[in-house]
Amino acid sequence: MSDQARVTLGPVNLSEGEMKGYAVGKRNLLIARHGGKVRALDDWCNHAGCLLSGGRVEGSMVVCSCHEVGFDLATGKNVTSPGVCDDQRTFRVEEEDGEVVVYGFPDSPLP
Ligand code: FES
Repeated sequence: MSDQARVTLGPVNLSEGEMKGYAVGKRNLLIARHGGKVRALDDWCNHAGCLLSGGRVEGSMVVCSCHEVGFDLATGKNVTSPGVCDDQRTFRVEEEDGEVVVYGFPDSPLP
């Protein structure tokens, strides 16, 4: 897998406001549905590495269960605690013929 990998997750049956974590290679990917669109973020919270999929969706953000940092689902922006950690990495995601496809998902952990 290259750094510009295309990952096909298959059909993802998420209702509005739901999310799910996926193990992809050596990494974890968070898929959520918000505003009628599917969103993809790195599931490893950049604060201390907890899985965001273990948290909750609140409006347009995912809130990490470990230290309550909230990230915008569309942009990854840290909207609750900008001084605590960076914005979360997001990935281009499309629904193609009923399958969710993520583009540019790396196969190695971030430093
Ligand atoms: S690990 Fe996510 S907020 Fe600390």
